[in-house]
Amino acid sequence: MKFHEDFRNLVPVTKEYVYLNHAAISPIPLPILYESLRYLLDISRYGSLPVNDEENDDFYHLREKVGKLINAEPDTISFIPNTSFGINIIAHGLDLNEGDEIVTDSLEFPAVTYPFFKLKKKNIKIVIVKPRLENFEDDLLSSISKKTRLIAISHVSFNTGVKLDIKKISKEAKSVGAYTLVDIIQSAGATEVNVKDFDIDFAVAGGYKWLMSPQGSGFMYVKKGLIEDPPFYGWRSSSNYLDFNSENFMLEKGPRRFEIGTIDVAANIALAKSCEIVSQHKDEIYPRIQNLTDFVIKYAEEQGLEVITPKNKKAGIVIIKTNNPKELSRRLLEKKIVVSPRGNGVRISTHFYNLEDEVKIAIDEIRKLAF
Ligand SMILES: Cc1ncc(COP(=O)(O)O)c(C=O)c1O
Repeated sequence: MKFHEDFRNLVPVTKEYVYLNHAAISPIPLPILYESLRYLLDISRYGSLPVNDEENDDFYHLREKVGKLINAEPDTISFIPNTSFGINIIAHGLDLNEGDEIVTDSLEFPAVTYPFFKLKKKNIKIVIVKPRLENFEDDLLSSISKKTRLIAISHVSFNTGVKLDIKKISKEAKSVGAYTLVDIIQSAGATEVNVKDFDIDFAVAGGYKWLMSPQGSGFMYVKKGLIEDPPFYGWRSSSNYLDFNSENFMLEKGPRRFEIGTIDVAANIALAKSCEIVSQHKDEIYPRIQNLTDFVIKYAEEQGLEVITPKNKKAGIVIIKTNNPKELSRRLLEKKIVVSPRGNGVRISTHFYNLEDEVKIAIDEIRKLAF
């Protein structure tokens, strides 16, 4: 039996639903859930003792597993409660000044753009490009200049499914002296993310989508040497934090400097486990997701449906154009098929343990209900 066949048995939702909604929230597979439950049960039984055990190495055993997934050193990985928090740290941690520009685009999830709107008060200009899907990178890059300090984009777009050529973007960003921030919540766990190969400065993700972990898990990659002085301080941002001395603050140099207070340990233990599983099996997981999205597109087109996602630039998300996608998604749910209305249609997001037969069931039903 292949890994994905075994793993499917560990995802209880598959017994009840045709679940094609991983770009919204993934069901937590049992081995990943187990990590959180084990920890919480230990706390229930032993109070602070398991916390101390887990925290002894400043969570480096977890940072290491998360870092490995994206080819980052453990001391560049910080835990964050959600993607929005991480992007805010970067927005307010970079030393931006009047006249500086941030380039982003109109197809982003608001978590990527809104944090920068607060900077408008400092007369920092937010340039929002309206890109064409096939020419996304070129459209974005045509708006950068020497004034650009940061390009903020998603690796995979939540409402079109397009996967960007991050290397191309970061190269051009560098040529004007700009940093690149990539929201990888729709790619990490679904397709290769390699921060060194991409040559990016920041990457941010919550763990509850393709990484199949609890809400409240999440991580941020900050390249070494950047944002050494974070925008907020808390008790855990001090290198002597276990002295509990309220007058003596010594700024932490490691990734804990962004973790201002207690992190969600139970959620991030699960996230680290998931990163470990995905790293170990990525040679099967990533191509399988690609093959399933290829199949979604092929089968949808054979049924006469229009697909918005470009065939050659995608990861796990496919948008099928429909009228009234909200109502359609509601009616699909009545048939125990879970998708989301996004963009100009319904979004199908297949994880590696989904089956072609499930895709067929969903698309046959979409075709019936959409006409
Ligand atoms: C691209 C992208 N970024 C961020 C988020 C969610 O942000 P957060 O983790 O802050 O809730 C989503 C959720 O759909 C998303 O698609």
